[in-house]
Amino acid sequence: MKVAVVGATGLVGSVMLKVLEERKFSIKELILCASERSTGKNIIFNNNSYKVTGISDAISNKPDIALFSAGSSTSLKYAPLFAKAGTYVIDNSSAWRMHRNKKLIVPEINASILNSGDKIIANPNCSTIQLLLAVAPLHKRYKIKRLVVSTYQSVTGTGVKALNQLNDEEKGIKGEKAYPYQIYRNCLPHCAGFSDDGYTKEELKIVNETHKILDPEIKVTVTAVRVPVEGGHSEAVNIEFENDFDISDIRNILDKTIGISVQDDIENNIYPMPISAEGKDDVFVGRIRRDFSNPKSLNIWVVSDNLRKGAATNAVQIAEYLVENVLNV
Ligand code: A2P
Repeated sequence: MKVAVVGATGLVGSVMLKVLEERKFSIKELILCASERSTGKNIIFNNNSYKVTGISDAISNKPDIALFSAGSSTSLKYAPLFAKAGTYVIDNSSAWRMHRNKKLIVPEINASILNSGDKIIANPNCSTIQLLLAVAPLHKRYKIKRLVVSTYQSVTGTGVKALNQLNDEEKGIKGEKAYPYQIYRNCLPHCAGFSDDGYTKEELKIVNETHKILDPEIKVTVTAVRVPVEGGHSEAVNIEFENDFDISDIRNILDKTIGISVQDDIENNIYPMPISAEGKDDVFVGRIRRDFSNPKSLNIWVVSDNLRKGAATNAVQIAEYLVENVLNV
């Protein structure tokens, strides 16, 4: 495969490279792109040094697959140019997610809808991916009526600038701010900009993407909160089902789901935490318990490394699916 990574110097881009290495993705030629200010920088991949190139050079090189993580405006402008050159683009930004003709993919749930005409494929929002991986198998068995989700999101979801803000504030250094307030020792109920209805765009992404990927009939409400954490996103999820459930069956279903790891042993203080999810590809589920305040309802706690399954790993898994099932190689 001739593979391009657009946004290779960014937080998600560098994890994409790590995941491609770890999963031994078959690469004959690797093209690394970033903004003009990074052109000429060296990046090491599989013990070889690669020079960062500009995006136009990458397009004329006609890669088979381009993994994009360079923001929405870069994707809107350049993904169609790659697609026109015959490249399959897997885009981590929100640019194409809700586009009528573009597919939004969590491989374990809906990769089978992909075909050779899908030249621009959207990677869902990080919070959506971990939420849906956990609830999709439960929906299949007991049919979900309503989801109430509260997120506790890592600063890494905002990018390098936010991570620097947290580290600077911890050390008492004055620096660039990614957020309107201090994030160190604080929580901001404000992930992405606000929309007119009072919700943030992050909250609406989770609602809309759940409808697109899983089921438009599920009622979803979300409060998304940024917390001074690095390792991953956490989510408190309340699920109301159409049908009554057996709690041991819920555990069994989650236990058997590929990509889910159940960590739920309260007697030994075992539950998922971002500090232990960091660097791993699984979505961790714990605190599995019936909601006694409402019939047919369940509470779970879901944690995952947002840079891996929430972004880079999901994108690489889509690329693997394309290679195995869609591309003629
Ligand atoms: P650069 O490092 O040169 O700014 P993050 O989300 O972690 O901030 O990373 C964003 C990534 O997107 C970086 O690799 C950044 O490159 C890259 N990027 C930003 N704008 C463009 C652009 N117009 N073309 C290609 N890459 C871009």
